[in-house]
Amino acid sequence: MIVKPKKENEMTKILHLDSSLKPEGSYSKQLSAALVTKLDGDVTYRDLNTSQITPITGAHTGAFFTPADDRSAEQNALLDESDKFLAELRDADIIVIGAAMYNYGIAASLKLYIDQIVRVGEAFVYTETGPKGLLENKKLYVVAATGGTPLGSPGDHLKPQLETVFNHIGITDQTYISASAGMNVDPDATMAAALAEIDALAA
Ligand SMILES: Cc1cc2nc3c(=O)[nH]c(=O)nc-3n(C[C@H](O)[C@H](O)[C@H](O)COP(=O)(O)O)c2cc1C
Repeated sequence: MIVKPKKENEMTKILHLDSSLKPEGSYSKQLSAALVTKLDGDVTYRDLNTSQITPITGAHTGAFFTPADDRSAEQNALLDESDKFLAELRDADIIVIGAAMYNYGIAASLKLYIDQIVRVGEAFVYTETGPKGLLENKKLYVVAATGGTPLGSPGDHLKPQLETVFNHIGITDQTYISASAGMNVDPDATMAAALAEIDALAA
């Protein structure tokens, strides 16, 4: 799918997030880097694993649900991190997430990030017919690496969680590519197949 930038004559903006614990030799980072190169846009990069993301607390959710005009200075300060992540997300035409699987799900840092961005009034609103996402007209690519648990298998809680969360905030155009089935048998061939899939994508 070709994603058009929001304005004519602007480069496509890509938000590139990684979440592997590995400083070296990460398969998901290799895949996400290959995809970002292929997409060729203006890239903002964030390594979530080293970003020291604050776990949200009751004070955060209190601030999330307080109307902007009624927030205290302390609440506004507490929202700075979330505001920064949301601004990056809003600005992006394409989001690329390098997702490593840990204990059948996403990395803890990616969960911390999600807790900071899925914010009422900013990322979604409640309507009479249910929640409605506000971050529309964006494309999400998730490139995942596992130790062998195939994406889409009963043990996989990574893809279902990301699908649901990003649909919830309006990012419904999602593509998943993984090095998963076969990683425990032949990682080189499995990675080569995932990289070929990325290469075959229309940029
Ligand atoms: C703490 C931990 C838990 C893991 N849990 C799973 C798992 O549940 N299923 C699986 O297939 N692989 C699991 N793995 C293997 C990783 O998914 C695999 O190493 C993958 O390559 C990680 O991505 P990366 O190379 O980008 O870091 C786990 C690895 C670690 C360190």
